[in-house]
Amino acid sequence: MSSQTNIQRLRDQKAKSRLGGGAERIESQHKKGRLTARERIDLLLDKGSFREVDAFVQHRTHDFNLDKQKFMSDSVVTGWGTIEGRLVYVFSQDFTVFGGSLGEVHAEKICKIMDMAMKNGAPMIGLNDSGGARIQEGVVALGGYADIFLRNTMASGVIPQISAIMGPCAGGAVYSPALTDFIFMTRNTSYMFVTGPDVVKAVTHEEVSFEDLGGASVHSERSGVCHVAAESEADTLYLIRKLMGYLPQNNMEDPPFMPIGDDPLRMDEGLDSIIPDEPGKPYDIKDVIRMIVDGGQFFEIHEGYAQNIVVGFARLGGHSIGIIANQPAVLAGVLDIDASEKGARFVRFCDAFNIPIITFEDVPGFLPGTFQEHHGIIRSGAKLLYAYCEATVPKLTVITRKAYGGAYCVMSSKHIRSDLNLAWPSAEIAVMGPDGAVNIIFRKELEKAKDPIKKKAELVAEYREKFASPYVAAERGYIDDVIEPKETRPRLINALEMLSNKRDGNPAKKHGNIPL
Ligand code: HXC
Repeated sequence: MSSQTNIQRLRDQKAKSRLGGGAERIESQHKKGRLTARERIDLLLDKGSFREVDAFVQHRTHDFNLDKQKFMSDSVVTGWGTIEGRLVYVFSQDFTVFGGSLGEVHAEKICKIMDMAMKNGAPMIGLNDSGGARIQEGVVALGGYADIFLRNTMASGVIPQISAIMGPCAGGAVYSPALTDFIFMTRNTSYMFVTGPDVVKAVTHEEVSFEDLGGASVHSERSGVCHVAAESEADTLYLIRKLMGYLPQNNMEDPPFMPIGDDPLRMDEGLDSIIPDEPGKPYDIKDVIRMIVDGGQFFEIHEGYAQNIVVGFARLGGHSIGIIANQPAVLAGVLDIDASEKGARFVRFCDAFNIPIITFEDVPGFLPGTFQEHHGIIRSGAKLLYAYCEATVPKLTVITRKAYGGAYCVMSSKHIRSDLNLAWPSAEIAVMGPDGAVNIIFRKELEKAKDPIKKKAELVAEYREKFASPYVAAERGYIDDVIEPKETRPRLINALEMLSNKRDGNPAKKHGNIPL
């Protein structure tokens, strides 16, 4: 064969591979408002940077006449490329081939690329669009998933792993993402469930739509499985690119330093009047965050879930930081089961990847009640406590208002190795709020009082004067300094620089036993 014919043959093969399940199925994918596996990769990566591997791979199954249906690349496209010039590895499942289902070679392709990502210390991004284990391949498909689950677990805390859910994902196609660090979903076109609506109907007789069973709203607001819900596929992929800017390539690196020209000494006078005069009145902690961080840019994680705590990434003086903040505008910022778990997982991610943790605290305590107790607030609260205690990255805390009870200890207090704890003059640090405290410690006096209302008001004022300030804690050194709110940005940036060579560790052990 002439070299021209050889080259033509190669080009034909590659063109065939790029067609996946064929023009008809591509059209059907587009009609459903979805892109193809390759179109998604093109949007995710820097233009022209994608290098595909295993485009010639085909399945080896004969059962159920599968040998008569062969597709080059099988049902997943794999390779590497760059995001803002930084290397990432990618797999993108191709729904046009057997519904993106995962059989032996599909799993082998993903494992190959995951092994490369681990060996070369770069993030792994999975674009999932799959009906789960390829039913015709039976246990071989299940084994393939288990091979991936093992790699997801080994890679956890070593390289960032990001999953996007881009179609109807079932079975193993949701458990692999669940083992990764962040799950992105696209509203109205992506779904996640262990078993789909048909199986649900057969087993439990429940009739439920795709959307109500496992749509982006369900998972970003109720289950908390999804970290970021985006409006379109293009938006989903754009947000993944943005997230990557805050993350290091692996656990041995620091996150990228990217100053955007926002003056590190900038002081926002608005912060001095942001705390309402009445202690029970809410304000939005996200306003506080935006006034302090570089360019007001805050990349929120779990925006719709457990909104009484706010977590996300930002920059301070160019340094990537993770923020955990109580949200007084939702349930007064109380810590409940969902908020504790949301915070704990975020703290552990930041700690694993060398991202300093900044805590903004305004918390009335843990949420009381039978629901919370019966569903394990003790265990969930302990997760947050454990996560903060074990974290060795730089930890900075700003108490804006309430730091009551157990929540004072949990939210990165000095006692659990926080490096610098600052309080605003509006801080109230006590075992509980003045009202509850007076009811308990002065019960007898109040019963005997001629005018219990007046007496209570006096006692509340006395208690507030004594405890509802930062100064008792500052006297003990539990607070390193009380600052004017507008000073917060320069003080935090100074502290990050002061801590840039921080070294701290935990005792040698196989692993701890976080209360899961
Ligand atoms: C083989 C599959 C498949 C699968 C879909 N297809 N899922 N082929 N194995 N798991 C094929 C269909 O036969 C169809 O082929 C094409 O993909 C498109 O599927 P449709 O059903 O037409 O698409 P849609 O209506 O959009 O529904 C998508 C779906 C549904 C919700 C994903 O296909 C579905 O429920 N699939 C089964 C999901 C499932 O139960 N998987 C096993 C999970 S167990 P044709 O040729 O007709 O176009 C698992 C074990 C892992 O994963 C264990 C983890 C712990």
